[in-house]
Amino acid sequence: MPKQKIVIANWKMRLGLAESIVLAKAYAEHIKTETVEVVACASEIALTGVGEALRQGPVKLGGQNVFWEEKGEYTGEVSAKTLAEAGCSFVIIGHSERRMHLLENYEMIHQKLKAVLDHTSIIPILCVGETQREKEAGKTDYVILDQLQQSLGGIELLADKQLIVAYEPIWAIGSGHAIGPDDVNTMHEIIHASLVDLLGVDAAKKQVRVIYGGSVNAGNVASFRAIDNVDGFLVGTASVDVMEFAQIVNSL
Ligand code: 13P
Repeated sequence: MPKQKIVIANWKMRLGLAESIVLAKAYAEHIKTETVEVVACASEIALTGVGEALRQGPVKLGGQNVFWEEKGEYTGEVSAKTLAEAGCSFVIIGHSERRMHLLENYEMIHQKLKAVLDHTSIIPILCVGETQREKEAGKTDYVILDQLQQSLGGIELLADKQLIVAYEPIWAIGSGHAIGPDDVNTMHEIIHASLVDLLGVDAAKKQVRVIYGGSVNAGNVASFRAIDNVDGFLVGTASVDVMEFAQIVNSL
């Protein structure tokens, strides 16, 4: 059975509190799909308000980050349980912007994944992707396999759990230049094969979706549609324009 396609909006830190609510209301008004799963990942402080506004439509709520401990002296962090209480059913883990600006590494990412899977029914969105320099050095495959191994090694995906892996080449993010469809196909094949090794055939096939992120917009989304192993998209820039985002969703 083909997996349900998913389109995830990552609003990053682009919007203030009031702006987030306005966009969430516009999502509820304009995104009406019943076939594609749609998620909006808002900034932490806006989660409850955005969740409330989204309740009028099919779009689900996601966080952009989580901490690995359940509770305690961790100033400024938020636990998986708190995200669930705020209404999140998804959370982005290990986005390259956090790896770059906050020095988040795959050991931390592994712990975050474990915390979310162990303590909640939130679906983690694990981000992987190579830098421009790694790509030029011909190391892309190695880098992605290593990131998957470090983050997922030792994790058992129980039958009632799901995972999303977002392949986001760092050089494609915010650049306006998405990777070519053939390259996405190749990378997703490599990722699928690695997931079978790490999680087992059944879990990899039935419980994991592999999506692409990096300069996806209404103009290029159609070029990825025919690729079987692309289960959806993680969208940054184009997600804060509701009409463009709705076009991306409707194109699937
Ligand atoms: P852009 O769509 O702006 O390239 O951002 C992609 C991204 O980082 C989503 O997480």
